[in-house]
Amino acid sequence: MQYAWLTDIHLNFIDGVARQKFYREIVNTKCDGVLISGDIAEAPSVVDILNEMAGCIDKPIYFVLGNHDYYRGQIQEVHDAMTELTKNNDKLFWLPASGMQKLDSNTFLIGQGGWADGRLGDYRNSRVVLNDSRMIADLFQEKILGKYQLLEKMQQLADADAVKLQNDLKEAVSQNPNKIIILTHVPPFREACLHEGAISGDDWLPFFSSKVIGDILTTVTQQNPKIEFLVLCGHTHSAANICYGNLAIEVGKAEYCRPEIQKKIVI
Ligand SMILES: [Fe+2]
Repeated sequence: MQYAWLTDIHLNFIDGVARQKFYREIVNTKCDGVLISGDIAEAPSVVDILNEMAGCIDKPIYFVLGNHDYYRGQIQEVHDAMTELTKNNDKLFWLPASGMQKLDSNTFLIGQGGWADGRLGDYRNSRVVLNDSRMIADLFQEKILGKYQLLEKMQQLADADAVKLQNDLKEAVSQNPNKIIILTHVPPFREACLHEGAISGDDWLPFFSSKVIGDILTTVTQQNPKIEFLVLCGHTHSAANICYGNLAIEVGKAEYCRPEIQKKIVI
């Protein structure tokens, strides 16, 4: 079995002809399914684009969302739409709604999008302002109240997804598979957040990483040394590949308007 892994494809930035070309490239890999680690489109377009992609590829598409998928929208509304989509389209699996998937008898797939949690780097002194806090209604509301209200909201979102991922991991390890693949959007460790080949600066790290998910992964992978864990993520658009014992983390490289297949994941 082989899966095409995609991340940060931002398909709303390209026209229908370019999207069809990209779908054909995916079909040509002869993969059995597709894994997407977030930033597929934006809130007003993500449902139509996923339906379009599922229609053209005609293989199961397992995905989580990234921060861009909520742009011009509200988080709960997007989640409700993804839950509906997962119910109505038998090729589409938003992993937070579909739950754990058994890819084969020894390999399980789980996923939660996650959010940057401001805990790595130096949030206090950072002057970085991401578009997230202008383009996502829930974050915009907090940002106008102040920098620390925004941080509180980021952490609330990140922690809620981390708890869900912790539960998914608990369920997956209880069945003792050889391998667990985890889709998430935001890299979980400082070392995985690169920019031009070096670890991102302390001003960007608060917005590029989810420390809370990193902490959970560290604990669970150390408690289950016989299971191999593979985390596929994106968000920074800079490739990274790190390994801590039985935990491997791959971050995809991405460029706006040039969606690409990161690699084939063979199980
Ligand atoms: Fe992102």
